[in-house]
Amino acid sequence: MDFKFIIYERSDQIATITLNRPEALNAFSKEVIEEVLQAIEDIKQDENVRAVILTGSGEKAFSAGADIKAMKGMNALKARELSLMGEKLCCSLESLEKPVIAALNGYALGGGLEVAMSCDLRIASETSRMGQTEINIGLIPGWGGTQRLTRLVGPGKAKEMVFTGKLVDAKTAEQLGIVNMVVPADKLRETARQLALELVAKAPVAIKVAKALINKGAEISLDAALALEREGFGVVASTEDLQEGVAAFTEKRKPVFKGR
Ligand code: CAA
Repeated sequence: MDFKFIIYERSDQIATITLNRPEALNAFSKEVIEEVLQAIEDIKQDENVRAVILTGSGEKAFSAGADIKAMKGMNALKARELSLMGEKLCCSLESLEKPVIAALNGYALGGGLEVAMSCDLRIASETSRMGQTEINIGLIPGWGGTQRLTRLVGPGKAKEMVFTGKLVDAKTAEQLGIVNMVVPADKLRETARQLALELVAKAPVAIKVAKALINKGAEISLDAALALEREGFGVVASTEDLQEGVAAFTEKRKPVFKGR
């Protein structure tokens, strides 16, 4: 596969997508979004890939959001198109049946933060900063920021961030629950890789079902979510991997899960 704006690599059952437009702080142009969607499609088909890392090139930014320069003269129809494209990207990451780790190597702003929040886990470098900065150019988040940020931090903090456009540093983001952990910048890639390797060794069907249940459960009543969990529990219990896990526990060895 030939890409111009991303680097797409696969090794040790981990797929890594690196946004690679550092001269524009990895801003998401239409082309960048299309290439990431293409890589996600490939990941969906590749049974050998069990975990995904999404990161940015350079030391300055994961992504500074949607391409502002492309917004010159944008009308309502074009804006709707842009919103739909970003939404598609975010939903593709969120619904991908494999765990996705965002490794935030610098600014995660506007659409950059929205894409990061669509991933399952976020690791931030100590030097990274994040915010819903759209208000500074007279805009609002358009790729799910008003919703996913609110679900992560609650309405009060979400309103503060969206209304003021102020950035939070990595430590504050961790305290708010926006990121899972903060590591020194030179340890970011390795930490993300180690976490991905940990996930690769787990039972893929169990991760897939748990991800779907956690995501869906946030949108429905507790009763309905518990009913879904019950069904999911049954599905996961019917896998060969459960029997392998039980056997490995009994035999005091590490399980080898096959995703069946
Ligand atoms: N789109 C296009 N280009 C961008 C960009 C963006 N979002 N962010 C930065 N760039 C470009 C700059 O224009 C500059 O390119 P040129 O040298 O060709 O002018 C280059 O990246 C480096 O940026 P700066 O010179 O501005 O770097 P800095 O260190 O002075 O500032 C920054 C860094 C604070 C992140 C600043 O670039 C900035 O505020 N960027 C905009 C962030 C933003 O508001 N993002 C939200 C976009 S709207 C959105 O995402 C809507 C949505 O919900 C989908």
